[in-house]
Amino acid sequence: MVPDKVVDEISANRQRYVEELSDFLLIPSVSTEPDHAADIRQAAIWVVNKLQKLGFHVELRETARHPVVCGHLVIDASLPTILIYGHYDVQPPDPLDEWITPPFSPSIRDGHIYARGATDNKGQCLTYLEAMEAMLSVTGRLPLNVKVLIEGEEEIGSPNLGPFLQENQEYLQTDVIAISDGSQFASGIPAITYGLRGLSYLEIQVQGPRFDLHSGTFGGVVANPIQVLAEMMTRLKNSDGTVAIPGFYDHVQELRPEERQELSDLPVDEVRVKNYLGVDQLVGEPDYSMVERQTARPTLDVNGIWGGFAGEGAKTIIPAKAGAKVSMRLVPNQRAAAINERFKSFIHSIAPSTVKIQISEMHGSDPVLIDRSQPAMEAAARAIEFGFAKKPVFIREGGSIPIVGLFKEVLDCGSILLLGWGSPDDGAHSPNERFSLEDFHRGICSAAALFYSLEESYRT
Ligand code: BES
Ligand code: MN
Repeated sequence: MVPDKVVDEISANRQRYVEELSDFLLIPSVSTEPDHAADIRQAAIWVVNKLQKLGFHVELRETARHPVVCGHLVIDASLPTILIYGHYDVQPPDPLDEWITPPFSPSIRDGHIYARGATDNKGQCLTYLEAMEAMLSVTGRLPLNVKVLIEGEEEIGSPNLGPFLQENQEYLQTDVIAISDGSQFASGIPAITYGLRGLSYLEIQVQGPRFDLHSGTFGGVVANPIQVLAEMMTRLKNSDGTVAIPGFYDHVQELRPEERQELSDLPVDEVRVKNYLGVDQLVGEPDYSMVERQTARPTLDVNGIWGGFAGEGAKTIIPAKAGAKVSMRLVPNQRAAAINERFKSFIHSIAPSTVKIQISEMHGSDPVLIDRSQPAMEAAARAIEFGFAKKPVFIREGGSIPIVGLFKEVLDCGSILLLGWGSPDDGAHSPNERFSLEDFHRGICSAAALFYSLEESYRT
């Protein structure tokens, strides 16, 4: 499927690809922090330069916030087109003191490269660029026409990419979209992902008295916003782990028996998961397996909660305010906009009149299911088998890639390949994020193979 000389080229350049990844990872392109705007731009330019070296027509396109890198390389108008999507932005690296080596000083140990963005998503995204470089340098061409869309706002919910798709619908027309921004089922068990969860993310602010009060003078007469907030948070879920917001499960599509069977055939090791997480017991909805709860069932989590005095020693106050950030992972056919509304009305319905409540919406993205019967799936399976020497399993992922739903809706492209090269224990969003050098290499081989296998499947 892949010409030998391409494979040889990829093998011969392994070290150089790692050096390039390392260079990319040096840039602290944290999208959420305004202080990093210059770094974001630098990362975008890094991608532009790389694509230019490959001979792409490439542009840095401005948005209301972070730029989009957009490029194309037309090989032959009669060939099908693949669009590669990825993101050059990363999550904040904190807590900093938990990193063994600093997040933006990439470091290689035990067969992994450690840095923020190593797996999510710089390393995985780069596999396509290196694969194209190898194909171009030894064969002088690519098997498909290529469009590239690499954005800098994925980790903040892609707020400007939806409008960008609308405005550039024609330019972005494609036959298939490939995305590697997830993971294998487990290290060494490669997967094709056919489902992503959606996300509703809200912030609640509770205002009590105008300012922090002496708890001796006013204790007993004024509501404590932290107490009020905590009581409201505990009402979001029932004791069996189900979400208590009325209507939350209204449009949830139940798993089909065949799909449950397939998921239950996946090799799950709950003991290993508990050890990795350092917990004695897992939780969740009764009647659903761990994999089902992680990927095909909706959830609710408090991500952060604050208020009052948390410094050293004791300070006797009744705090003026408290706040919390709450996220809900959604599954087909829930809609983020509707869930946001249900969440807000529930909070307002249980909020006591002793405090003032403000709720703001931070992100919303809809869940996605991808048709598994399309020919591109088979081409992807062959490519993965080539790169990983194993047939992929089919999985859903619990995470969200906000733009994917809009690829389907706005670009009218249902042929979306979610091919994670990483591993669930890469530590995405955690301290000591890493990417296995072996997976990086396998990802590059699989990315190259994907071009050839897609070309074959379109030809026949
Ligand atoms: N790469 C992840 C998405 C992902 C995570 C896919 C786990 C498969 C498994 C992506 O970069 C991400 O973190 N997305 C955010 C989106 C949010 C910030 C809007 C997420 O899922 O939290
Ligand atoms: Mn991420």
